[in-house]
Amino acid sequence: MMFVCYLLFIGLYVQVLGHPAEINEIEEEVEFDVDAFPNRVVRNRTQEEIDKEIRKDYWINHATMTIQEKLSRKLNRNTAKNVILFLGDGMSIPTVAATRVYIGGEEKELTFEKFPFTGLSKTYCVDHQTADSACSATAYLGGVKANLGTIGVSAAVSKKNCTAMNDPENHVDSIARLFQLKGKRSGLVTNTKVTHASPAGVYAHTAYRNWESDTSVLKSGLDPTTCQDIARQLIFGDTGKNLQVILGGGRKKFLPKEEVDEEGKRGERSDGANLIEEWKKQKERAGVRFEYVWNREQLLHVQNDTEYLLGLFSSSHMDYNLERDRDSDPSLAEMTEAAIRVLSGGDEGFFLFVEGGRIDTAHHDTFAQKALDETAEFSKAVQMALEMTDEEDTLIVVTSDHAHTMSYAGYAGRGSDIFGYAGEASDRNLYTILNYANGPGYRPLMETGQRSVPTADEMNQVGFKWPSTYPLQSETHGADDVGVYARGPWSHLFTGVMEENVLPHLMAFAACVSRELPCDSSKKEA
Ligand SMILES: *[C@@H]1O[C@H](CO)[C@@H](O)[C@H](O)[C@H]1NC(C)=O
Ligand SMILES: *[C@@H]1O[C@H](CO)[C@@H](O)[C@H](O)[C@H]1NC(C)=O
Ligand SMILES: *[C@@H]1O[C@H](CO)[C@@H](O)[C@H](O)[C@H]1NC(C)=O
Ligand SMILES: [Zn+2]
Repeated sequence: MMFVCYLLFIGLYVQVLGHPAEINEIEEEVEFDVDAFPNRVVRNRTQEEIDKEIRKDYWINHATMTIQEKLSRKLNRNTAKNVILFLGDGMSIPTVAATRVYIGGEEKELTFEKFPFTGLSKTYCVDHQTADSACSATAYLGGVKANLGTIGVSAAVSKKNCTAMNDPENHVDSIARLFQLKGKRSGLVTNTKVTHASPAGVYAHTAYRNWESDTSVLKSGLDPTTCQDIARQLIFGDTGKNLQVILGGGRKKFLPKEEVDEEGKRGERSDGANLIEEWKKQKERAGVRFEYVWNREQLLHVQNDTEYLLGLFSSSHMDYNLERDRDSDPSLAEMTEAAIRVLSGGDEGFFLFVEGGRIDTAHHDTFAQKALDETAEFSKAVQMALEMTDEEDTLIVVTSDHAHTMSYAGYAGRGSDIFGYAGEASDRNLYTILNYANGPGYRPLMETGQRSVPTADEMNQVGFKWPSTYPLQSETHGADDVGVYARGPWSHLFTGVMEENVLPHLMAFAACVSRELPCDSSKKEA
């Protein structure tokens, strides 16, 4: 067993450059076990598998069957009772392709790759070519493109402008709000902090993504009583207080500095408020059945008739799947299951947002192994939703908010370990299949003038930082398009190259909760 420790000191760097990196705080030291590879399958193909692909009939039959399946498909024009949006944060197309190999081979498919309709989403924001998770969330949840670093507000709000943020004219309602206004249920699941940029897109209106607690607002030299922090908006905001399900990490954003949480971690708030207690009081006053849970065991035992569920499983982001304590921390699939159970308790229908948020944080550190493993976990969460819902009445959309710079390339042999070498470069040294355009995996030339080539041993470690062309403390997002995968009512509309902000409008249309395209039966006949 091998243990590797690492520390991230990105906070200062981000402050200085005003760079949109998502990890803006010092993380604790983490230990991990390189023997734990539950999703990773490295296998040699059998002779039978190899022979099969050599025959041309195999490919022709496969193609014919694919066409027959397409021809037999009936368009689903039902009203979507439920909509589930799965967001793989930073899940670029190379990430998806490389994860196929991670789970067993190039020919494998992630669950959502079996969906009948796919398209591409253009993720640029109003003021930047490359999106961050904040402006991107405003687009794929609120239907309006915005400025980098801002959430749930239009581009009339520039970053950190509290005055502009407080003008209701500039607020953008998320699809969750549209569901709520029609008396339907709504919820969110993430394995990052529930106040992080992507989940905040469900309920917050803020000029700055880092204002997760009042302490961060104070740090910007502003008054948190007029410039409300994201955690407070989650508990008291119009959309936040009506969410039936809130599951993820980020307890410290809800607790005062003077208090420690269930796991002994200190809160972060300066206003002395315990927002978890405030949430409980609010639900008690409303006379609804509610539960607050903070570990896996409690989550698995949530009552079926619970109407409001708050689960905070970590002080900050939840741990990577490869490092999590399997007894105390639920998986993304387990959280998705609990969320659907509570949301489908009513018969009104629901909107659920599920984020695989640690694909992105892994990429920022050029931890390719963790990024692929988180993508495999994300795929399992989608599988859970497929099993618990009916294609006839539930629209499931899977997408991402921006790409990353990891490339999957070279001419490695079929069935190669994705964490291996692609071949020899023109300097006669090996080069890897996975590489980043920039990031902390940069290696300067050795004293001999030669490239520093990682050893196979290094590359087999979960915490290995993959080679990067340019040195950057935090690897950047990519500006390339991301995939959109859809199944269920009106999923045939999710095709072509789309502006990202069209997505929630399509979902709202499918569910008949749209303001601009209200549902009348004539439209649905179209
Ligand atoms: C695949 O085959 C090679 C060469 O025969 C062998 O060295 C390797 O251990 C095998 N790998 C697996 C996972 O079986
Ligand atoms: C903030 O926005 C307001 C109006 O929305 C505007 O008048 C003001 O100039 C902006 N402040 C800055 C510093 O850009
Ligand atoms: C809760 O609901 C699930 C399925 O939705 C069912 O399998 C389970 O038996 C229910 N549990 C109780 C205690 O009713
Ligand atoms: Zn990011």
